[in-house]
Amino acid sequence: MTPEKALMTQEPDATAPEVMATAETVASQHPRIDVSGAAATPMAANRADTQTVFRCDDVHVYYGDFLALRNVSLSIAVHEVTAFIGPSGCGKTTFLRCFNRMNELIEGARVEGSINYHGVELYQDEVDPVEVRRRVGMVFQKPNPFPKSIYDNIAYGPRLAGAKRSELDDIVERSLTRAALWDEVRDRLKTSAYGLSGGQQQRLCIARAIAVQPDVVLMDEPCSALDPIATGRIEELIAELKTDYTIIIVTHNMQQAARISDMTAFFSVQANEMGQRTGELVEYAPTSLIFTNPEDPRTEAYITGRVG
Ligand SMILES: Nc1ncnc2c1ncn2[C@@H]1O[C@H](COP(=O)(O)OP(=O)(O)OP(=O)(O)O)[C@@H](O)[C@H]1O
Ligand SMILES: [Mg+2]
Repeated sequence: MTPEKALMTQEPDATAPEVMATAETVASQHPRIDVSGAAATPMAANRADTQTVFRCDDVHVYYGDFLALRNVSLSIAVHEVTAFIGPSGCGKTTFLRCFNRMNELIEGARVEGSINYHGVELYQDEVDPVEVRRRVGMVFQKPNPFPKSIYDNIAYGPRLAGAKRSELDDIVERSLTRAALWDEVRDRLKTSAYGLSGGQQQRLCIARAIAVQPDVVLMDEPCSALDPIATGRIEELIAELKTDYTIIIVTHNMQQAARISDMTAFFSVQANEMGQRTGELVEYAPTSLIFTNPEDPRTEAYITGRVG
């Protein structure tokens, strides 16, 4: 099935937005992109090629009359980790939610401009947001397991997507192994997910997100509630997962962005004469450039800790 057709398949079930399912992964059809060339110079953000997962043009996001984010244009490459950094309130979460149409679940939120996903306009009426959220999974800041067993947390999405009972044991084992949690939970699969530590719960949420074979995983500060050891494990996991998934991560931790991401987008916030604070993209470049040779003085001030 083409991505376009698949996205437009109407699904009867409105699943929880954090549970994403898809029978096939689009990303596997695309080889890894080389971002070292001219196309990756700062602010040359739109890389038009077949390995682009998302292409955003002039994206504006409003909450009612309030313009929270303006004029964002950038492309996200397949099987890369893209980090969004910037001061609180600059619109990182708002922008992240654009990629799986989660802003639509917020009353009054409105996205303008173009977000193209594998050649499909994401915000056209024919596209089914439930299917989008199945392909573009999300992991939140605070681990949010369901009040169910470890097993049922992972099996929930695949069950909704129509997986057979006989397949579920395999899916659960595979997903937990992929999320580096299997060895720690294999003997307690039927116990409550609430009995896990915070770091384990976050890996469970990652396992739950990948159990439905998404194409992209969005992560909004996934380590901010974790200790350094649990954080290290999640970072290792992200490095592993990018061989199969495209990952977009919001982080306040500069070292983390530098360690784990291929591309970094720095957002800032600008107040107008009415005092309205609107976020904007300042600079988007390979992470190594952002952290060693940023083009914009605002980026440099932020990464060196002088503002933010
Ligand atoms: N549901 C909402 N309704 C109204 N305004 C919102 C909503 N969510 C976010 N905003 C506003 O949009 C702007 C961007 O918020 P957002 O949460 O995207 O920032 P952020 O960069 O993720 O910040 P942080 O680093 O603190 O998480 C802020 O001014 C915020 O108050
Ligand atoms: Mg946020």
